[in-house]
Amino acid sequence: MGVLTDEIKEFVKREKLGFIATVCPDGTPNLSPKGTTNVWDDDHLMFADIYSPGTIKNLSNNPSIEINIVDVFIRRGYRFKGTASILSAGPLFEEIVSFYKNTGAPYSIKNIVLVKVEQMAPLISPIYDTGMPESEVKNKWTDYWNSVHNNK
Ligand SMILES: Cc1cc2nc3c(=O)[nH]c(=O)nc-3n(C[C@H](O)[C@H](O)[C@H](O)COP(=O)(O)O)c2cc1C
Repeated sequence: MGVLTDEIKEFVKREKLGFIATVCPDGTPNLSPKGTTNVWDDDHLMFADIYSPGTIKNLSNNPSIEINIVDVFIRRGYRFKGTASILSAGPLFEEIVSFYKNTGAPYSIKNIVLVKVEQMAPLISPIYDTGMPESEVKNKWTDYWNSVHNNK
């Protein structure tokens, strides 16, 4: 069995949006969102390089990567640390590109980044320290985002 449990895999598939941290050559961080963040298998996450030149350049020099995925309604998520491989051609690249095309992705994919997950930890908001149940946290943030986007 791999490091990614069924529960975690379902979470990643549902959330889709991951924040991807890489290391620049000068040691500074680079962080950018990837809406194609998904699960490949029990040990690997992946995302598509559609327009992420900084991330790809950094990973070419240093494959260290961290991915954070947080559900903004329930204020929980996971952080994953690992090592990335960049796929630009070949059978596995074609297979993963087909996977994205089959999900209806209209993008032109330059590279696939496959991440071997080596460390994983849950992320949980301090709001849970107050004893607030998840259903109430969800209602609170659903109301908030409704108010933002419906101008209530
Ligand atoms: C919500 C959201 C989702 C995104 N998803 C992706 C993605 O899956 N793949 C990608 O290449 N760019 C994606 N982008 C665009 C990159 O994050 C953006 O081009 C970024 O500046 C790339 O930075 P980088 O070159 O440092 O990686 C997304 C942007 C947003 C706001």
